[in-house]
Amino acid sequence: MTTSNAKTHASLAGFSGTLVLVGAGKMGSAMLEGWLGLGMPAAQIVVVEPQPANEITKLATRGVRLNPAPATVGDVSAIVVAIKPQVAPEVMPALSPYVGSSTVVVSIMAGRTLRFLEQALPPAAIVRAMPNTPAAIGRGITVAVGNSRVSASQRELVDALLSAVGMVEWTGDEGLMDAVTALSGSGPAYVFLLAETMARAGVAAGLPAELAGKLARATVAGSGELLHRSPLDAAILRQNVTSPGGTTAAALEVLMANDGLEPLLTKAIAAATARSRELAG
Ligand SMILES: NC(=O)c1ccc[n+]([C@@H]2O[C@H](COP(=O)([O-])OP(=O)(O)OC[C@H]3O[C@@H](n4cnc5c(N)ncnc54)[C@H](OP(=O)(O)O)[C@@H]3O)[C@@H](O)[C@H]2O)c1
Repeated sequence: MTTSNAKTHASLAGFSGTLVLVGAGKMGSAMLEGWLGLGMPAAQIVVVEPQPANEITKLATRGVRLNPAPATVGDVSAIVVAIKPQVAPEVMPALSPYVGSSTVVVSIMAGRTLRFLEQALPPAAIVRAMPNTPAAIGRGITVAVGNSRVSASQRELVDALLSAVGMVEWTGDEGLMDAVTALSGSGPAYVFLLAETMARAGVAAGLPAELAGKLARATVAGSGELLHRSPLDAAILRQNVTSPGGTTAAALEVLMANDGLEPLLTKAIAAATARSRELAG
């Protein structure tokens, strides 16, 4: 895998093509905000969205083109498809008018394979990507895989587009995408669940519910931030707060037992991986 970072941001301000975003829901809007925030000229962005939220409609006053007739759009450098996977069979063929010889199509739809996308569109350079919800605050992580038609410059453009909402990892092995979906795509939900269950466990240990909720939330968020900022591995950070024979060690003995957190998360991620495979058909 190769990782990209902030250096790719620079290329968005200088972006001179046309970008079409299809689906401005939660993930599409987060990406749109990221692109505009990094200086991509609004006039070069086209949004296709049947029921735009107010914030999206307002962007039209800043120059973003909302639902223009496809024939008026001109040459499209990139199409980012952020619709629900369920509507893809119906929507993808309607995107054909936007696909030109130099267009790269980026799908962030869960479970929709390169093969499906290739069959739904005219021959095109296609990237399948899996972001996650921290993208909404620019702190997502996306794994991307392209088909053989993606050129080096198209990959660079896609990297810059995806980097606008966080880190990007590229893989040449599409087979990894189900496990990626299970780990980082669905992963934020596991962390939110951790905050929920820590709060309930705090109540069970005698704390008032409001205080327990506040403590759990701040602990998960603060530890996440610490992990983000620290060069140290999670295991080292954990060891650093664990004194032998202390309170943390007592809890970790339970969490790290043979029937502790690891077998449970391994089972959970295996279930999500299997479900992702099933959904991909
Ligand atoms: N959210 C996540 O954590 C996450 C993580 C990784 C990947 N993804 C993927 O990202 C994609 C979008 O997810 P989301 O959470 O952003 O969903 P969402 O909020 O439901 O957004 C989808 C958007 O697409 C719009 N849409 C529906 N039909 C359309 C059409 N014919 N043309 C253009 N736009 C259309 C929807 O409009 P209506 O509301 O009017 O139907 C909605 O605004 C999904 O494929 C999902 O698998 C999401």
